[in-house]
Amino acid sequence: MSKLGIIGVLFFGYSMFAAAQNLEITSEQGHRLNETLKYCGWCHGPTGEQEVSMAPRLAGQSAQYLQNQIENFTTHRRDNPNAKNLMWMAVKRLDKDLIPYVTQFYSEQQTRPFTNVDEELVLEGREIYHKGIPSKNVMGCTFCHGPEAKGLGAFPRLASQDRYYLIGQLHDWQHGYRAYADPMPGFAKALDNHEIKALAEYLTSL
Ligand code: HEC
Ligand code: HEC
Repeated sequence: MSKLGIIGVLFFGYSMFAAAQNLEITSEQGHRLNETLKYCGWCHGPTGEQEVSMAPRLAGQSAQYLQNQIENFTTHRRDNPNAKNLMWMAVKRLDKDLIPYVTQFYSEQQTRPFTNVDEELVLEGREIYHKGIPSKNVMGCTFCHGPEAKGLGAFPRLASQDRYYLIGQLHDWQHGYRAYADPMPGFAKALDNHEIKALAEYLTSL
């Protein structure tokens, strides 16, 4: 199936979903939504399960969190190098009226765990995720991201996220980028490289 074909099917699925949610969409908006999803799909993949490795998965992500990040890219509050180079431009091609549809679309997509994980690291990451590191004042991540890391509202889903993206965000916080993301910069600065690797390995496996 061509990429266009896939999007066509997705859009059909989306229309069914929108109808079920009583979200109204005109055919003119539907056409623009199709084009937008195709564009975002270059990097995030047709269903938000990722196409290029530095772009995070959007599939299954909280719609509220996605909206917040689109706002942060638009206002340049989110200033990670990759965000600046790629997302500041991308959000200019996203019509404001489509934001609720785009974020709802991705939040409804299925995603699967990454395989080929290092089991030993996964166990270490699991321990930190659930218990935190009390000696460093890092609380358990479950507290905000949920026991299965599925996120909710403004708290992002971390389960099945690309490990290199997760490691990248935590390092970016250590270097002072994406500062408007309370309370994450403080936690990231308290973690060492091995702890970050273990957490990312665990989360990617969920
Ligand atoms: C040229 C590649 C590219 C395109 C096209 C693109 N993105 Fe991105 N996107 C990225 C990268 C890379 C990041 C990670 C930025 C960072 O490291 O902070 C990202 C991050 C995001 C995030 C943050 C997710 C999170 O977990 O915090 C959202 C939301 C997002 N993109 C939505 C979109 C939407 C909607 C479109 C289409 C209008 C789009 N992107 C088009 C590359 C792209
Ligand atoms: C007190 C609440 C809280 C706790 C505890 C917490 N987080 Fe977060 N986390 C957040 C919020 C809020 C955001 C979104 C920030 C934003 O809007 O930019 C976030 C974002 C993230 C992101 C970025 C996700 C993305 O898609 O870009 C990662 C990675 C992350 N947290 C990892 C962790 C890890 C690992 C732990 C445990 C060591 C943890 N968090 C503990 C509240 C929390």
